Amino acid sequence: MGKLSGKHAVVTGGGSGVGAAIARKLAEAGATVTVSGRRKDALDEVAKSLGGISARTCDVTDPDSVSALFKSVADDHGGVDIVIANAGAAQASPFAKLDLESWRKTIDVNLTGAYLTLHAGVAAMENKDWGRMITIASVAGLRGYPYVAHYCAAKHGVIGLTRSVAMELAASGITVNAICPGYTETPMLTRALDNVMDKTGMNREEATKALLRTNPMGRFIQPDEVAQSVLWLCGPNSGAITGQALSVSGGEV
Ligand SMILES: NC(=O)c1ccc[n+]([C@@H]2O[C@H](COP(=O)([O-])OP(=O)(O)OC[C@H]3O[C@@H](n4cnc5c(N)ncnc54)[C@H](OP(=O)(O)O)[C@@H]3O)[C@@H](O)[C@H]2O)c1
Repeated sequence: MGKLSGKHAVVTGGGSGVGAAIARKLAEAGATVTVSGRRKDALDEVAKSLGGISARTCDVTDPDSVSALFKSVADDHGGVDIVIANAGAAQASPFAKLDLESWRKTIDVNLTGAYLTLHAGVAAMENKDWGRMITIASVAGLRGYPYVAHYCAAKHGVIGLTRSVAMELAASGITVNAICPGYTETPMLTRALDNVMDKTGMNREEATKALLRTNPMGRFIQPDEVAQSVLWLCGPNSGAITGQALSVSGGEV
């Protein structure tokens, strides 16, 4: 029996990158897992890759869609014990050119999506005396970076949300923490590198060097390293850790 057997986890944005790695890590530890996102094909691929994972489409910016996700999880699995608010998106833009539509879209998916996920998660965990809620924020939630003011604002908001909910739930047995990865090798990073090459004319090696300039270890983070920190926060000896923002970034922040 794995250390998480008997627990059910919901992972938003579980069809790729960090979310898929988290889903697999939790399933390997014995949890049953629902991965959610907008692309059914991507979710089905992750669900096929390991027993104990099922797929359910959900758009985290749509309150009805998030409610339907948690209702179906309650119907199928009798509730939820672990909530991973991982869905997110980033697009670079100089602040002077950042329009209101891009601002709203970025806040919507990264911050309002985390709010809707935690809000539905809290309701689904009512009457439980053990639970884990983890937001995947970013080092961009801990310091500023150029060309991503909207993303930094959203991720700073995610950390504030996480810390506040943690304080409200501190006596309940449910912990709430944020994980803050540095640049991590996922489809999001591939898009960021493509964008740097497109905007600057750099080749891939130069673009990689530019993105790694602020990383003391000089390397990208692996999705499994983020997933491992999630597993640790869900483990048996992490019950005293709540309201924290854990940097998984090679010492960047
Ligand atoms: N990669 C990095 O360098 C890095 C660094 C720090 C933090 N992060 C954070 O890590 C998290 C995961 O990102 P990733 O790197 O794994 O990138 P990714 O592979 O692009 O994953 C993002 C996931 O979010 C889902 N998603 C996007 N919009 C959604 C919406 N409206 N509703 C539901 N799901 C949505 C996507 O699925 P669908 O398109 O199917 O909906 C996708 O599976 C994000 O919160 C990101 O901000 C990433």
